[in-house]
Amino acid sequence: MPNHDVRAAVFPVAGRGTRFLPVTKTVPKEVLPIVDRPCIEYVVAEAVAAGIEHLVFVTAKGKDALVDYFMPDADLEAFLTLHGKDDLLDQVRQVVSMADVIAVRQDEALGLGHAVLQAKDAIGDHDFAVLLGDDIIDSERPAIAQLMEDRPSGHAVVALMEVPSAHTSRYGICAGSMATPTRMAVHSMVEKPKPEDAPSNFAIVGRYILPADMWHRLAETRPGRGGEIQLTDAIASLAAEGRVDGVAFSGQRFDTGNVVGLLRASVHFALKRPDLEAPVRAMLAEMSNR
Ligand code: UTP
Repeated sequence: MPNHDVRAAVFPVAGRGTRFLPVTKTVPKEVLPIVDRPCIEYVVAEAVAAGIEHLVFVTAKGKDALVDYFMPDADLEAFLTLHGKDDLLDQVRQVVSMADVIAVRQDEALGLGHAVLQAKDAIGDHDFAVLLGDDIIDSERPAIAQLMEDRPSGHAVVALMEVPSAHTSRYGICAGSMATPTRMAVHSMVEKPKPEDAPSNFAIVGRYILPADMWHRLAETRPGRGGEIQLTDAIASLAAEGRVDGVAFSGQRFDTGNVVGLLRASVHFALKRPDLEAPVRAMLAEMSNR
């Protein structure tokens, strides 16, 4: 069972989404659809299923659609009621009732660590989760709940995934000793190392549990790789104190921050839908012959 001392989560969603330009000029990448739901809903649903009640979105200019999605829409509800579309009305209301969402702003995209720091006042002096909106994890037990389990008090926990050596430069990479086949005592972390510099193949994907004393570490973190304030660098200071665990979670992870990853996630979730599986399989068969 999840350890319920973590009840708040930060969703940093202030990035520019340049890999999806030009659409992200006006549409936040987090609301791009996977089947008929925005990417971010899959991640919010994971947090809610893990018992998280208090959700803080770190947004930027032009991201209102993302927050509006979780807010009531009286006009839409009246329209659906008038036209007797009760099933859709239920679905729209269910999204709103999922969670209590608040938004704070990151005025400049100075990096993921800086984005998380903007949630400090909204979260307060509590341990908290961080979930990245462009990492979707389909799993039986919510991935963020897997990180909460057996967490020593005051420790940070990061989600780990083994990646091919050629891909280490896309991730934060951890080094440490395996306490169990799925749990690493993390000794050090490095952001996006070249394959020859990577200390292991264990990459951090977008799920974290962070202790309350993270805030001052984030505030003290100076710009690192790419001139950005990196979350990994702030967590590395905890690793040096032996307070970071990595959990190789079970589940399937989709990187929806790039075009092919989003398409892959779309097909995966469409195939899980009873009403879509047959037509989507037929479409894939037809297209594979082109
Ligand atoms: P990414 O670098 O993957 O997202 O950051 P991006 O910058 O939006 O995308 P590209 O690379 O330009 O296509 C990982 C996560 O951190 C958030 C992003 O929104 C994304 O969820 N982020 C990043 C912020 O909120 N603020 C930042 O300053 C940087």
